[in-house]
Amino acid sequence: MTTLVYYAVIVTMDDRFPIIEDCIYLNHAALAPLPRPVANAVIELVEQSCRHGSRHYSRWLLTEQRCRRLAAQLINAPSADDIALLKNTSEGLSTVAAGIGLQAGDNLVIPAQEFPSNWLPWQHLAERNGAVLRQVDIRAGSDPEAALLNAMDDRTRVLAVSAVQYSDGLRLDLATLGKACAGQPACFCVDAIQQLGALPLDVQACHIDCLSASAHKWLLGPEGIALFYVREELRKQLSLQQYGWSMLDDKFNFDRDDWQPSASARRYEAGSPNNLGIAGLHASLTLLLEEGLDSISAQVLDNTHYLTGQIDDLEGFEVLSPRRSGRQSGIVTFRHQGTNSGSLYKKLMQADVFSALRGDAIRWSPHFYTPRQDLERALQLVKKLTA
Ligand SMILES: Cc1ncc(COP(=O)(O)O)c(C=O)c1O
Repeated sequence: MTTLVYYAVIVTMDDRFPIIEDCIYLNHAALAPLPRPVANAVIELVEQSCRHGSRHYSRWLLTEQRCRRLAAQLINAPSADDIALLKNTSEGLSTVAAGIGLQAGDNLVIPAQEFPSNWLPWQHLAERNGAVLRQVDIRAGSDPEAALLNAMDDRTRVLAVSAVQYSDGLRLDLATLGKACAGQPACFCVDAIQQLGALPLDVQACHIDCLSASAHKWLLGPEGIALFYVREELRKQLSLQQYGWSMLDDKFNFDRDDWQPSASARRYEAGSPNNLGIAGLHASLTLLLEEGLDSISAQVLDNTHYLTGQIDDLEGFEVLSPRRSGRQSGIVTFRHQGTNSGSLYKKLMQADVFSALRGDAIRWSPHFYTPRQDLERALQLVKKLTA
């Protein structure tokens, strides 16, 4: 009997994800553990550098090109030329905010309670230019898109949203927002960090002008590397804020007298690339695309349905995440009436159930590979801790 149980555990264990053996990891909306193939890709580059210096640099350049192509494939960008590889989501959003150019009296529209990365750059931009930042309560009614679009007018220059809200996982209908912005002066800018890698996203179908997302959450990559998409037309309008050799097409020609920034999105990359990060992101994109975003998102949403249903059935619990399909994501946020979420969070962490505390609530964010037994065990523990 013991042998049988042991065998069942072994066959269901996915050796790409050693984290499963260590703990119950429900925190991909904060920081993902690196899958084995991603860790191996980074370690291999470290080894190459340690033993051989720049000998394999041409290979690293090929990985960089492939990484851009995979990133374009993931979001259905028209071309790898539309992708820049930057440090993080904030850098991408700040690049747009710094380059967009406003007049006094213009306005910018964002949801209220955004993560600071998609709020501070716009606030700074508005303050600097005598423009108005309109922060819209998207949870007040039943139609967040209508609330955002109603706040826009012919002086709106930017509509910037998180595809999925970090606190409760509310997912916006990007296609509706993008269609409304298309042909208008407003630039449609998306912080996609809580969506990419968990749920599919198509920048063309959603008429997205620019998008930024770090690798270290649902994309299962390392910190310090992000993909930044900028539509070709917008690249002509966004002024440059940083300058360096890497933004040029023929970038290893250091002896030139004249220069033009690349027409591609590489124009937003000033200097030496983060090759370790790129090696990791390349490996994680390969893993995700091989697995298939349809299959991944089906599993992510199945986790969410399961957790939401189970927590609903528990006495005294309240799920703060959306219930309607189309609004759900990989995030499930909840609290218990009689229990302080801060102390519940500490006890969960002590028991190796990696969770996040957001506001006065627990946020869980399992990924597609998270075993169902882990969700069951986490629920049992929460029940015990709040009894
Ligand atoms: C919606 C959202 N945007 C951005 C970030 C992080 O930004 P960056 O990639 O610049 O660290 C987070 C992290 O929690 C987030 O939830």
